Amino acid sequence: MVDLFTPVSSLPLCYNHPAMMDVLKNPVNWSTFVNRPALGMYPPGDWAQRLRSTLLAVAPAGHQQVITMGCGSCSVENGLKAMFMKFMRVRRGGAPYTQEEMDSSLRNQLPGSPNLSVLSFSNALHGRTMGCLALTHSKWQMKVDFPALDWPIADFPNLRYPLDEFKEENRKEEERCLAMVEDLILKGDQNGMAVAGIVVESIQAEGGDQFASANFFQGLRDITNKKGIGLLMDEVQTGCGVTGKFWAHEHFNLTDSPDVVTFSKKMLTGGFYNKDSFRPQESNRIFNTWVGDPSKVILLEAVVKEMTRSNLIGQVNVTGEHLLSELKNMQARYPSILHKARGLGTFCSVDFCDTETRDNTVNKLRQRGMNTGVCGTTTLRFRPALTFLPRHVDIFMGHFDAVLADVTK
Ligand SMILES: Cc1ncc(COP(=O)(O)O)c(C=O)c1O
Repeated sequence: MVDLFTPVSSLPLCYNHPAMMDVLKNPVNWSTFVNRPALGMYPPGDWAQRLRSTLLAVAPAGHQQVITMGCGSCSVENGLKAMFMKFMRVRRGGAPYTQEEMDSSLRNQLPGSPNLSVLSFSNALHGRTMGCLALTHSKWQMKVDFPALDWPIADFPNLRYPLDEFKEENRKEEERCLAMVEDLILKGDQNGMAVAGIVVESIQAEGGDQFASANFFQGLRDITNKKGIGLLMDEVQTGCGVTGKFWAHEHFNLTDSPDVVTFSKKMLTGGFYNKDSFRPQESNRIFNTWVGDPSKVILLEAVVKEMTRSNLIGQVNVTGEHLLSELKNMQARYPSILHKARGLGTFCSVDFCDTETRDNTVNKLRQRGMNTGVCGTTTLRFRPALTFLPRHVDIFMGHFDAVLADVTK
């Protein structure tokens, strides 16, 4: 098969890449695979060094703190906790917890369990654990039957494509959404449910590959700094080079980096970076049995080395440019079916006229050995490995053309 979706966007290099197979062949690594440590209590002697040569070597600007986790949801969930702790530390002026706070927290009561919220955006997906679900608004199947935290949801900009052609219109739409964010924060203050942070995807992925401009993200950074609240950029799907930069938010030239950056998928391990000021002050506050898995970090080490050795981010830019231009060609050939071809790096997508035609196309492609993914209601998305080449794009486009011709018959 030609895999343009990979295991839901989580394959950094190709299947069975020799650099990763070598990790398993090396006896020095065996005990890490066999004996999984409880990292929060008994980290291996070389753990700090492993983090330095992997996650910290590729850390977003402004970040020197990282903690690993199991999956994307777990990373966001704990990133939220880092924001809440920082918010409350500032609110109590650095004073220690009172006995009343400690006791009431055990009964889910005030003041130990404060009335705080995190603001998220319409159509977002940040995971399926109970906290993350309050930030997830893409599909009802993920939500129905589960009690939800009634936290504020702002509109994510609904932009017109191609983005360069509708700059003025899109700017107004983004300003509308930013005004809504400010309004919801104000309402939170007035209603005794302060917003402690904002969570946003660098590109809204599961919700249908929705882009917003650098201005929009700078606007969020300005609002959060002005209000003294956290900004968490969720890079679970956009991180690890897929957009042509290691972290997608690097495209936005933010004047001040996000406070928390979550990752998983192609990074092989989940986790999050946080600014020094968001570091928990006591042990055990961000904790679980394993707190990640060092065997994944050893594999990530091989990935990061291979990314540098083979200039894979450069490759993503070359392949991505070809993929997007071919998608635009297809859009020109099948204007009644395709529109909104868009992308950054190989993080590309195109929208269909309706869900049925899209799903039909995806099934027909799969029968031909072409694995693609979907998101939103009408979007076909591409999430190939970093090793994907222009010639793989050409193989796919031959099949895509044939299937679209068949679908339009
Ligand atoms: C942006 C984003 N955040 C969080 C998650 C949740 O990750 P996981 O499925 O590993 O829990 C996903 C999953 O698709 C995601 O795309």
